Amino acid sequence: MKRYAKAVLRPAWNALKWRMDGIAKAESGAALTAAMRRADDLENVLRETNERLGKALTRIDDAERQLARSSQIYSKVRTAFPDLFYSDQIERELTQYNDQIDVHELPSVFDYWSNKYILPLFHECGFSTVDEFYAKNLVQAAQRVGGTARFISIGAGNCDTEIRVVKLMLELGLKDFEFECLDLNPTMLDRGREAVDASGLGRIFRFVQGDFNAWIPSGEYAGVMANHSLHHVTNLEGLFDSIKASLNPRGYFVSSDMIGRNGHMRWPEALGHVERIWQELPAERRYNHQMRRAEPTFVNWDCSSEGFEGIRAQDILPLLVDRFDFPVFLAFGNVINPFVDRCFGPNFDADSADDRAFIDRIHAIDEAGFESGELTPTQMLAVMSPTAVDSHVYARGLSPQKAARSTN
Ligand SMILES: C[S@@+](CC[C@H](N)C(=O)[O-])C[C@H]1O[C@@H](n2cnc3c(N)ncnc32)[C@H](O)[C@@H]1O
Repeated sequence: MKRYAKAVLRPAWNALKWRMDGIAKAESGAALTAAMRRADDLENVLRETNERLGKALTRIDDAERQLARSSQIYSKVRTAFPDLFYSDQIERELTQYNDQIDVHELPSVFDYWSNKYILPLFHECGFSTVDEFYAKNLVQAAQRVGGTARFISIGAGNCDTEIRVVKLMLELGLKDFEFECLDLNPTMLDRGREAVDASGLGRIFRFVQGDFNAWIPSGEYAGVMANHSLHHVTNLEGLFDSIKASLNPRGYFVSSDMIGRNGHMRWPEALGHVERIWQELPAERRYNHQMRRAEPTFVNWDCSSEGFEGIRAQDILPLLVDRFDFPVFLAFGNVINPFVDRCFGPNFDADSADDRAFIDRIHAIDEAGFESGELTPTQMLAVMSPTAVDSHVYARGLSPQKAARSTN
């Protein structure tokens, strides 16, 4: 019986086991095949998403390039037919500055760069701060001219710089003078009036609301000041002629301003450097804080496409060189600008040794470029005289003539 059971049941058991193994194999095979198919599907979705992402990025790049191109065309048309656009731009200019209490806020990495590299140039020219640059040279102009001195600041805005400068002029011993503040924007001038009242300097200040593109001076000045306003002027020739005509021959025109390409764009020779450096930067360092957008490729943005920002920046220095002698001139900045300005400067940390080394390296590119003549500076501080002077102080020997880039 036992033998019989063995003889019948064993093959039946084997057959059953064989069948079950087959089923298990078939099932796991099917499951594997299904999993593989699913993985293939996922891979396809991933590939498609990548392709679509790539296409979208290319379209964003194209759009940015087109935007930059059309803003260049727009600014060329606007330069050719300024009257057509003037009233519109004036409106935008007023709106832009109405709420701007601090027009000079800059990231900390700018301070690192300017303290390390620009401050020594200031010292070479006899001052330590921009306020001191204005105060010392305006006082010197008053001493050269003699008598009651009259000064004017062109595009004075909120007049905060002017108040600090006037305080320093008083500290330097100048007593007998009056100081006019000219600006287009009545809201800013009102802020200036309030600040002057609060400072107790009301007897010195006068406020004039007017358009510097059509400025007709009344009387003679010992000194004219323009702090970061020349890059908003469309009629540079008219303004510079008026300043020259209204200055006492021994007086000074003092200015700190941007002198690079129109709209603060990079010239091609600088753009090449910026684009090369851009490739080194991780995505988070290419974030534009002012425009609130990522810039996978550097956008050579024309700031003058809205309002007057940098409208004829590239013409400022050549037109000044044609009309004035420069007792003091210092100029700096170019490739470094986008990395320390309000747009991308906040992406760098002045406390990081690596970031400081990065800024040092870019500054060195600028300085070598000025030396060789490949690059020209984008910012200047200048003391100008309507008549020839005997002595000239040019920080590290860089003259206004050499700093002026030919636009041909
Ligand atoms: C960058 S802000 C400089 C303001 C001031 N100088 C300072 O350093 O704080 C430029 C100034 O130019 C003024 N501005 C622009 N267009 C003008 C015009 N056509 N006539 C007079 N002022 C003008 C603006 O209102 C603004 O106050």
